[in-house]
Amino acid sequence: MVALGRKFVVVADATALAFAAADRVMARIADNPGRIAICLTGGSSPRRLYELLGQEPYQGRIPWDRVHWFIGDDRFVKPGNPLHNMSMARGIFLDRCAPAANIHPIDTEAHSPYEAARLYEEELQRFYGALEFDPPQPLFDLVLLGVGPDGHIASLFPSYPAVEVTDQWVVGVSEAHVEPFVPRVSLTLPTLGSCREMLFEVGGADKRAIMSRVLEGTDLPANRARSYQGETVWLCDRDAMPEDHRG
Ligand code: 6PG
Repeated sequence: MVALGRKFVVVADATALAFAAADRVMARIADNPGRIAICLTGGSSPRRLYELLGQEPYQGRIPWDRVHWFIGDDRFVKPGNPLHNMSMARGIFLDRCAPAANIHPIDTEAHSPYEAARLYEEELQRFYGALEFDPPQPLFDLVLLGVGPDGHIASLFPSYPAVEVTDQWVVGVSEAHVEPFVPRVSLTLPTLGSCREMLFEVGGADKRAIMSRVLEGTDLPANRARSYQGETVWLCDRDAMPEDHRG
């Protein structure tokens, strides 16, 4: 099923992309006076955003005690490994700014990716306070995502069985479809979709080919991912967009 109701926002360049993403993060935080849950993403796209969140004026405006930080997928390598997604976010801003108890990594030192998935599912369910999603009460305020060259999101790769999983919150993925070829652990589509906003960040000319397929509505994980009860926003820079979609 191709997601409906998405909004595409095109900005000038990589810098504008990071600032626009940071402003959306701040708007989601401002919207919730209680406990806030943000699901971060790996890859290179969010680096500049993470730098901004750890700097003024953003850092001083984030109520760090109330914000919990999760990760949509991780590579099954030890923390500290340059491929480890949560370590990237921790190194750029989380370890300096957020209370340790509010940082929720996937345990990539578990026995296997499947075991790590089970443990993270339990952690998400404990945080949420239920074993089933209640649509009016989404798990996350905001889910950040990037898109891979093959149309994967998080570690849900095209035509892999993990894309179809609806009875698990988190899955182990034994082999990646693109580099780096290490096992992964990924939230499933229903878990990522349980959010007030799903925000894609897509920048650079090397994303143009996959953006054409996304815009054509090809059946890809990226086209299935959406917020079930909120907004789905694709924030893209001009270079990432095919020429006829740059307006
Ligand atoms: C991962 C990611 C993955 C990423 C996309 C885009 O662990 O690899 O979470 O889904 O977001 O591949 O990656 P880039 O931002 O590096 O293009």
